[in-house]
Amino acid sequence: MSPRRILVTSALPYANGHLHIGHMVEHIQTDIWARFQRLRGNRCIAMCADDTHGTATMIRARQEGRREEDILTEMNAAHQRDLQAFDVAYDHYSSTHTETNRELCHEIWAAIRKADLVAEREVTQLYDPVEGTFLADRFVKGTCPRCGSPDQYGDNCDNCGATYTPADLIDPVSALSGATPEPRTAQHLFIQISKLQEWLETWTQEEGNLQEEVANYLKGAFLGEPLWDWDISRPAPYFGFEIPDAPGNYWYVWFDAPIGYIATTKEWCAEHGEDFDSWWRSDDVEIRHFIGKDIIYFHCLFWPAMVKTAGFTVPDRVQIHGFLTVNGEKMSKSKGTFIRASTYAEHLDAQYLRYYYASKLTDTLADLDLVIDDFVAKVNSDLVGKVVNLASRTAKFAKASGLSATYPEDGGLFADAAKEGEAIAADYESCNYRRAMQRIMALADRANEYVEEQQPWALKKQEGKEQQLQDVCTVALNLFRQIVVYLTPVLPRLSEKVGALLNTPIEDWAEAQTPLTGTSVAKFKHLLTRVDTDELAKIIEESKEEAPASVDALASTDDDAALKAEPLAEECTFDDFTKVDLRVARVLKAEHVEGAKKLLKLTLGLGGDETRTVFAGIKAAYEPEALEGRLVVCVANLAPRKMKFGLSEGMVVAAGPGGSDIFVLSPDDGAVPGQRVH
Ligand code: MSP
Ligand code: ZN
Repeated sequence: MSPRRILVTSALPYANGHLHIGHMVEHIQTDIWARFQRLRGNRCIAMCADDTHGTATMIRARQEGRREEDILTEMNAAHQRDLQAFDVAYDHYSSTHTETNRELCHEIWAAIRKADLVAEREVTQLYDPVEGTFLADRFVKGTCPRCGSPDQYGDNCDNCGATYTPADLIDPVSALSGATPEPRTAQHLFIQISKLQEWLETWTQEEGNLQEEVANYLKGAFLGEPLWDWDISRPAPYFGFEIPDAPGNYWYVWFDAPIGYIATTKEWCAEHGEDFDSWWRSDDVEIRHFIGKDIIYFHCLFWPAMVKTAGFTVPDRVQIHGFLTVNGEKMSKSKGTFIRASTYAEHLDAQYLRYYYASKLTDTLADLDLVIDDFVAKVNSDLVGKVVNLASRTAKFAKASGLSATYPEDGGLFADAAKEGEAIAADYESCNYRRAMQRIMALADRANEYVEEQQPWALKKQEGKEQQLQDVCTVALNLFRQIVVYLTPVLPRLSEKVGALLNTPIEDWAEAQTPLTGTSVAKFKHLLTRVDTDELAKIIEESKEEAPASVDALASTDDDAALKAEPLAEECTFDDFTKVDLRVARVLKAEHVEGAKKLLKLTLGLGGDETRTVFAGIKAAYEPEALEGRLVVCVANLAPRKMKFGLSEGMVVAAGPGGSDIFVLSPDDGAVPGQRVH
């Protein structure tokens, strides 16, 4: 069989933020797959880039008083550094803000026009008259039209879950300037992808391009009715590419972002003398995109429609993974589990995380949980205890003699493990890395049993057993090497070291089929050490420190971000202020509320028999036990409000934007319940 030609990509990370360990799930998944293909003798190139355009970059540049390009350069370098630290090796890592990408956008746009897929319509959006810009949904805040909860984003309510458009908010304000936004109408351009509906039906449902659950989801959620036209233009000001035949309008970031896959390849081709058409205008290539489950519809509907229309290679596979959680929860800045890739890499070996993710990744969309204790246990028991231990217990005895000249009798161990190679390969191929790791660890268990039985350390002490010792070490080191061949896509650094140890680099999957004989054995150097849990604790600690005190809508870290996100309220009189009766209160009881996702039920004591029952939206930030007994400040004269779960008789005051970033206020020592706060 002639080698396959494969092009893989990971979703292009947004340029306005740092990579975190959630992103690394995807980069590691892609990198393992690409390395596996190369080890199998296939030609596989891997492409990625930063996704640069859109409102977020523009706003950040304004806030920091810098040019967009300067931010992009800085972030691109940071992203590439982080990827390298995790041994993630793209053949080229570029940016969507390049001339190559602009030209390709023009070309694809011309094809879409020519295919008569463009429609023009008026769109009304909220406009910030102070900043002079249209506002994306998350840049508008206001009171929920359904439950009256203040301070909600423009697309949905954190309190009651209602979804709406920003124009429905009561008293909307711009999160950028605090100004009252006004509706403004502008012409937008739309791509009528319903004209490709039949083709998309086939591409998504019948060609095996998608995981079954994804195909079903698309059928149920979108393909059942005519697909909506896709709004792909934004009026100025917008940081992006101007649309050539609609001056003053820019392509929406999701138009030019995936074209970045093509542009990145084109740059790489130019640098390496490769024929671009053989990758992006060819039937003789497999294109595979790895993405997370939050961006399915861009990649599985719009993107194939775009490349199809423009005559580029249509992807063979969009492979979708779930989201990373830590200790069973969403990554949290306050708990120190929102961990930047760079923070992790400063403290711990990246190989641990590569192995841990591999041991969790399957071909489904299930979320993947990083359980810290399990991480430590797994790395220590599998990688160090089972794999590396094989070499550390035998290599030293084989150093003088080298490996035996012929492969000794091993009871069929090597041959059995060689046979397992195809099953392991099939698991890598289908992205069921978890099963591959299980198979490999089962081989390691058998190899360890062999070493236990043969006791090379005892043979070493007996006279006349030199040949037997050499044979036992030859078997053990070969079983070890075979396992390392299988682990090479996951642990390239370990693989390289083992190549040096046995004086034969590991370059091909087939090397697991034939034992090594007669080679010399180098001095054993540490291959991998146990997880240092002190370092792990430091990562969590530092991730807490790195978290900004408040995470605003812009995910910006400057210290006036909170103030910008929520500008100061209108002046009030002292009388206005004293209308609000704030009291010190003790949390007597804190309980979960059955069926409530965000609320805790608090019983507050104000001294004597005076109590208040309060439903507070702080569940994501506090465990009930942590609250019981502590002092808080409550609004004691707030009109009772009937809520779905009961009557709420006040409010506990807290700062922060919401979610897990909520900070309940407490008085200094000495205060007692019932005291008024002036
Ligand atoms: N810029 C877009 C992608 C454009 S592709 C033409 C984007 N960027 S992102 O930075 O938000 O996400 C990049 C990738 O990382 C996405 O595939 C996303 O699903 C993935 N992940 C982001 N957070 C993640 C986790 N917590 N867990 C797993 N993957 C995550 O979307
Ligand atoms: Zn609401």
